[in-house]
Amino acid sequence: MKLPSSSATNLKKENMKHMISMKDFTTKEMDDMMELMALLKDARKDNAIPKLFENKSVGMIFEAGSTRTRVSFEVAATLLGGHGLFLSPRDIHLGAKESIDDTARVLSRMCDIVMARTNDPETVDALCKMSTVPVINGLDTRFHPTQMLADLFTIKEHITDGRKLSDLTLAFMGDATDVCRSLLLTCTKYGMNFKQIGPVKYQMEQEWLDLADEYCKETGASYEITDDVEKISECDVVYGDSFYWVTQLDEKEERLNAFMPDYVITEELMSKAKPGAMLLHCLPANDKEEVTREALEGEYSVAFDEAENRLTAQMAILVYFTHKYMETPSEEVKKMHADKVNDFLNKL
Ligand code: CP
Repeated sequence: MKLPSSSATNLKKENMKHMISMKDFTTKEMDDMMELMALLKDARKDNAIPKLFENKSVGMIFEAGSTRTRVSFEVAATLLGGHGLFLSPRDIHLGAKESIDDTARVLSRMCDIVMARTNDPETVDALCKMSTVPVINGLDTRFHPTQMLADLFTIKEHITDGRKLSDLTLAFMGDATDVCRSLLLTCTKYGMNFKQIGPVKYQMEQEWLDLADEYCKETGASYEITDDVEKISECDVVYGDSFYWVTQLDEKEERLNAFMPDYVITEELMSKAKPGAMLLHCLPANDKEEVTREALEGEYSVAFDEAENRLTAQMAILVYFTHKYMETPSEEVKKMHADKVNDFLNKL
């Protein structure tokens, strides 16, 4: 089926790419995105962000709640001179009164890029299928790619002794979540060593370990999936995430029993990690469950720098995924249209 092109944005879609998982990107592409993050973060410090998303809009579909992803995309669009539209299921017909296909087609004709946080991965895949503008996965039950950019960037920012990402071992504490899965693939792709430390019942699916095996062969990375908390002594980065997601509330008690107290990130656990180890957490954090307040506030914690870097990442994402497709009109073309409209209005 030939997809309609967007008359509103006049995008050139030959090489259009969506962002569903970091596995779809080379390390060169990820490095490019992080270099763009660094440039835009520097510009933000000087309150001099170039208006690279001027007059553009990002449609932001949120089937699930969000603080960081929602605020960071909306603020990023504003800082870059554009606009973010918050679209909850209460605001649009997505999948209820209107098919996902038709929603994708309509949004493509009005927005320049679409970000979607969906409860069902099939929704984001369906959006990609029919969208004629880039679709960014703002977290589904499989992956959280925008979080990965912020995480890698934050780790790099806080390495002070000249080591590279590939010199580090990252331990994810807990369940095989979307973030855990994304970290497994991102770390091994970057030559970083990865550990998931959590109860056997909640460990990573074989499908993703098989893919990680391929990355390890290419990069020399390694991974270990273990229930042995003492393995924290081999780790430079400790990563926390909630022990249950909003769709798993019926499992909450069973999960908390399985994870607590052994897999909770405490000051004591951090003291057992490698000297200088840092603590990341994708947030939101529950400081009565997966991480203590003391650990979250420890001098080794970079969780709030990481949260701020969600904004840095979203600025880069909005620009990276749209700049190739944007046509900036010449001053002559702008004047010609303004003259035509003004001539018409003056006759009214
Ligand atoms: N880490 C993260 O995605 O946070 P939000 O759920 O608040 O967007």
